[in-house]
Amino acid sequence: MKSYFPKDFLWGGAIAANQAEGAWNVGGKGLSVADVAKYKPETDVKDYVSQWHVSPEQIEEAMATDDDVFFPKRHGIDFYHRYEEDLALFKEMGMKSLRISIAWTRLFPNGDEQMPNEEGIAYYHRLFKAMRKNQIEPIVTLSHYEMPLYLVNTYDGWVSRAVVEMFTRYAETCFKEYSQYVNYWLTFNEIDSVFRHPFTTVGVVEEKYPDKKSAEEAIYQALHHQFIASSIATKLAKRIDAANQIGCMMTRTLAYPLTSNPEDVLLAQQHNRENYFYADVQVFGEYPQFVKNYWIENGIHVEMAPGDEEILKLYTVDFVSFSYYMSMIKSVDEDHMEKVGGNLVTSVKNPYLDISEWGWQIDPIGLRISLIDMYDRYRLPLFIVESGIGSLDELVDGKIHDDYRIEYFRNHFKEVNEAIKSGVEVMGYTTWGCIDIVSASTSQMTKRYGFIYVDLDDLGKGSYNRFKKDSFNWYQTVIETNGESLYEEIQTEKVEKTTAHS
Ligand code: BG6
Repeated sequence: MKSYFPKDFLWGGAIAANQAEGAWNVGGKGLSVADVAKYKPETDVKDYVSQWHVSPEQIEEAMATDDDVFFPKRHGIDFYHRYEEDLALFKEMGMKSLRISIAWTRLFPNGDEQMPNEEGIAYYHRLFKAMRKNQIEPIVTLSHYEMPLYLVNTYDGWVSRAVVEMFTRYAETCFKEYSQYVNYWLTFNEIDSVFRHPFTTVGVVEEKYPDKKSAEEAIYQALHHQFIASSIATKLAKRIDAANQIGCMMTRTLAYPLTSNPEDVLLAQQHNRENYFYADVQVFGEYPQFVKNYWIENGIHVEMAPGDEEILKLYTVDFVSFSYYMSMIKSVDEDHMEKVGGNLVTSVKNPYLDISEWGWQIDPIGLRISLIDMYDRYRLPLFIVESGIGSLDELVDGKIHDDYRIEYFRNHFKEVNEAIKSGVEVMGYTTWGCIDIVSASTSQMTKRYGFIYVDLDDLGKGSYNRFKKDSFNWYQTVIETNGESLYEEIQTEKVEKTTAHS
């Protein structure tokens, strides 16, 4: 097998402002929803619902304190001040691209200002210039779990139509200021996660609603506003610079049926269809009929303004980006079966797959299946903008031997290569948390994804110094050889094994 990765394949890494930058109250930045996310050591780290949930009391408590020990996203890894050192390391690794997000609250601290905060604007100019100086292509997410908290408290988040205008003002500012450095933009990170953690994504505080149904209706309304905002942003991006490429971004949570029982197959199909719904809207420019039927059957009313349908239809995305961490299983007998954790979803355990220390099922072939499936569905270039393994890495004498990470990526990259060979167009692969950052769901620092270790623990203690893990050099070689080394390594291993046995 040889490498089929195209010459311009965007090998890279990915981080998000709220998990990396820190400097939560520096340079005029306002409070974002991430700044009130609490580290909860007393709660099971596999209990995603509790880990993600932010109650009204927690918001109040957070607003009244400057603490950053139990609100670790406030310090992140101090990327805000250390980006030059980190970019130098990324360059040394050979990374062609880096996915970052812009913190909306650095540019518009409350979200509803008419004019942006100049200090915030200047910061991203410096960052993008430094990326370009290091020949690193920026991939930029406009909204990655970091909307202004003020909009949640004052406008009920994205449920309010007014937020569409505020977001598009922010997006327009970004396009005007930064299109000179940036070609690839993603509007909303994992837009499908609105139902899994509504506070972080659309600013919906569930306790404000009298029952489950009205909270669900509010989330659909907020989601509709995000779809509209994404389409308007797409229109503006093209108008400001025709070279801008806009992608949607979804969590791919591939589901398999447990058995050939048609009922299991149906359940898996339903899951996958719901998983695709969000990108379907952003690629095809309209809601699928099954969602409209669901609204009718369940008495859900989503307010649409005149012209909304046209906007969705006219301004669709140029490419489809997604995160991929795991696959899951669907079964009609689910209640009686052993479960594992996952990226905000639990699943029946798959006996054929290993799991990470956080219970996520590792499935490289599932990535190939997803790529083929999505390409057949959308016929648009695909971009894997997140994928990786969270693990407890150990720093011993300045070294981290993370062969499990090398194994993880070797297997995933090879499946991407197979997908490309079979005709799928893949733009790039930005590995999640290429440098250790604070976990989105659990706010832990010890759930590490990086090729670069950051000396910091869950309570924010440590030197913030950076150390290269074994995977650093390994990834460097993969990029340098554009994937050829993935196969050379296997040959070397085979030769060694043959020699050992002879
Ligand atoms: C994705 C998010 O769902 O998963 C990231 O877009 C997040 O922000 C990543 O960090 C990994 O999840 P976690 O909870 O392990 O940080």
